[in-house]
Amino acid sequence: MTRTVYVNGDYLPETEAKVSIFDRGFLMADGVYEVTSVLGGKLIDFDGHARRLERSLNELDMPHPPELGEMLEIHRKLVTENGIEDGLVYLQITRGSDGDRDFAYPARDTRPTVVLFTQSKPGLADSPAAKTGMRVITIDDVRWGRRDIKTVQLLYPSMGKMMAKAAGADDAWMVQDGFVTEGTSNNAYIVKGNKIITRALSNDILHGITRAAVLRFAREAQMEVEERNFTVEEAKDADEAFVTSASAFVMPVVQIDDAVLGDGVPGRVAPRLREIYLDESLKAAI
Ligand code: PDD
Repeated sequence: MTRTVYVNGDYLPETEAKVSIFDRGFLMADGVYEVTSVLGGKLIDFDGHARRLERSLNELDMPHPPELGEMLEIHRKLVTENGIEDGLVYLQITRGSDGDRDFAYPARDTRPTVVLFTQSKPGLADSPAAKTGMRVITIDDVRWGRRDIKTVQLLYPSMGKMMAKAAGADDAWMVQDGFVTEGTSNNAYIVKGNKIITRALSNDILHGITRAAVLRFAREAQMEVEERNFTVEEAKDADEAFVTSASAFVMPVVQIDDAVLGDGVPGRVAPRLREIYLDESLKAAI
């Protein structure tokens, strides 16, 4: 089926959508993005993603996109037009193009490129991996120093996924100075006793929208949360581990490199958090 996509104010069949070869997103990775999940035809945590998008744009001194209300309307229209029951809405905004290649930014009134498309993922919340858990490898984190900005510079995360695949694993956790930063496309957590441990927010990691919600729900459920750095050794010795993201929600991790956690199956905390997250997010979906 040909999807309807959104490009700079127009809704078009995907085969007719065009972006300039001089677009700075294409030439310089000068763009930011958001991925919002859709469950039962409704958007999960749209406001959180919209707020982070605004922050990313501000941090890069990029012109602002359509108003929030209009953004919501575009998301909803694409979900409806493409009959998305479960899936994702991908949004990307780049600094646009003034028709040539130059390291310097184009004039501030250059029109940004705004692109949105949907991905249908039937049964997104019923992923079999949630029952078996994922295996991750650890790799050096060699990304740039502003990982808090959700830019489209995703080459190293892509390489990390390929390294994981080559090692027969599902994903990679990135490591800086012996401490885990985050997964290639998710935030990383370990569970020790009853304590949930995850790296604190800084420029070293993406400020996950799912992370914020999951930590809030965990605290509301009287679970203990510690936001601090943890080492690879500590992770390998943990009772449980998991990741969070808009597309994976809460996903248990059962193996880190050669270390099998607990019994090698998801423990108590990650599946419980997944259940709470999905219940609460569905209630608040718009
Ligand atoms: N990735 N850390 C990184 C490096 C990410 O790329 C992501 C999201 C997250 C989790 O953020 P959130 O909970 O807001 O989705 C953490 C998205 C899903 C992606 O690139 O497809």
